[in-house]
Amino acid sequence: MEQTVVLITGCSSGIGLSLAVRLASDPAKMYKVYATMRNLAKKERLLDCVKGLHKDTLDILQMDITDQRSILDARDRVREKRVNILVCNAGVGLMGPLEAQSLATMRQILEVNLLGTISTIQAFLPGMKAQGHGRILVTGSIGGLQGLPFNEVYCASKFAVEGACESLAILLQHFNIHVSLIECGPVNTDFLDNLQRAEPGDSSLQQVDAHTLSLYDTYLQHCGMVFQNAAQDTEDIVKVQGISGCHPVIEPCIQILHQQCPHSAQQP
Ligand SMILES: NC(=O)c1ccc[n+]([C@@H]2O[C@H](COP(=O)([O-])OP(=O)(O)OC[C@H]3O[C@@H](n4cnc5c(N)ncnc54)[C@H](OP(=O)(O)O)[C@@H]3O)[C@@H](O)[C@H]2O)c1
Repeated sequence: MEQTVVLITGCSSGIGLSLAVRLASDPAKMYKVYATMRNLAKKERLLDCVKGLHKDTLDILQMDITDQRSILDARDRVREKRVNILVCNAGVGLMGPLEAQSLATMRQILEVNLLGTISTIQAFLPGMKAQGHGRILVTGSIGGLQGLPFNEVYCASKFAVEGACESLAILLQHFNIHVSLIECGPVNTDFLDNLQRAEPGDSSLQQVDAHTLSLYDTYLQHCGMVFQNAAQDTEDIVKVQGISGCHPVIEPCIQILHQQCPHSAQQP
């Protein structure tokens, strides 16, 4: 049987890495996984997880989703010349009082989470339309459904992704292309370490009023506790993504929108 070709963004760590390992390890070798990452120097972690196996089910490609040339180069290096499932997973967080965020930093978050996701979809859409089928999975966030204090720009980026995907999903039904948003709550990954965060004492916080700083301090403690006590494992998210033959488990903090795959539950 022909392998299902899956291309995943942001596979250097976290959810993207787990999904790549899981699909590439499918005992029936049903999937050919193109695990992409912006910095190939970080590929050792993924290679360690697959322990040198999976040569016929896994390829690692460079792809920075803020660089159109890099997206197109990765697309053109897919040997099968088709992608059945595109997983737009790469993303970055930004935390802190809004007054402390520079325009450059806010632009960067929108550049990755919103425009990077849309550019990736744009690059693969013509191929999916031409082949007459496809599936696009986007790692959204509970922060794309409800606002979270001190995460204004991150939430704005994820809300915007919702709008783009919901709009696209309606049209793409006519092309047999299904769009799914996976709305993650806290997940045990490198996300907290990687996110851009104003730390108490940072110069960017010097002009922020004392009341806001005190609320931010409380928020950081709360956030740390939530990640420590309630975060899900990446495996839970991978199950919800529902493309590895298993039925998705809908956890309390996860919803799936526009899920139309036979293996997937539909959220009202
Ligand atoms: N963990 C959570 O609690 C949580 C909750 C809700 C939603 N999410 C979403 O889940 C997705 C995956 O995050 P994660 O939790 O797995 O965090 P993670 O471990 O930090 O992984 C994020 C991945 O995105 C990559 N990335 C960042 N900018 C990129 C760019 N310009 N081009 C290509 N790749 C880029 C990172 O690469 P580098 O290693 O090079 O930085 C990394 O591979 C994100 O979209 C995030 O918003 C996470």
